[in-house]
Amino acid sequence: MTLVFSILRVLHIVSGVLWAGGALVLYFFIAPTIGATGDAGKQFAGHLMDKTRFTAFMMSVGGMTVLAGTILYGIDSSWFQSGWMKTATGIGFGIGAAAGILAFIFGVQLGKANKALAALGAQIQGKPTPEQLSDLQALQKRQAMVGRWNAVCIIISIFFMASARLFG
Ligand code: HEM
Repeated sequence: MTLVFSILRVLHIVSGVLWAGGALVLYFFIAPTIGATGDAGKQFAGHLMDKTRFTAFMMSVGGMTVLAGTILYGIDSSWFQSGWMKTATGIGFGIGAAAGILAFIFGVQLGKANKALAALGAQIQGKPTPEQLSDLQALQKRQAMVGRWNAVCIIISIFFMASARLFG
């Protein structure tokens, strides 16, 4: 294992753990709590999205996971040429990689929906106007959908990353 490969692997696994952990805690615990706590939840979400670097952090660790993972896959498959891709282990890492890339795409959409919701939430004073209410409902529907697919894809990616070598 070359030094570059080792460094990429450590970068990939550490950023993968931080990304997957952050996304699943957000989906299963933080988002439901924000939804269940009315104005306090709205204030919390506004602060998390606007006053902390949470979104930037998630984009960075997600991006590093995908970038380092893609290079690792390239090296393992002699840049998408070798038969390794058709081995049970190669297929396992391939499915995990595809799910991880999809999770990142949904994650970017989720970040945008969260930011837009926090901005709209800050605009709404008292009772929302009919237009604000329909915008709010459309954004919440989108947030729920991309959030769900982000979590599903991350869980699939974790499963195949953890088990791919066992297939070989
Ligand atoms: C939530 C997302 C992800 C997590 C938590 C994760 C985690 C891991 C872990 C723990 C390993 C080591 C497995 C072992 O050696 O048995 C690994 C290996 C690997 N991952 Fe991921 N991964 C993720 C997403 C991705 C993505 C998106 C790609 C590619 C685009 C990718 C490509 C790879 C490759 C090619 C290996 C094998 C490296 C080697 O030969 O040692 N992973 N990943």
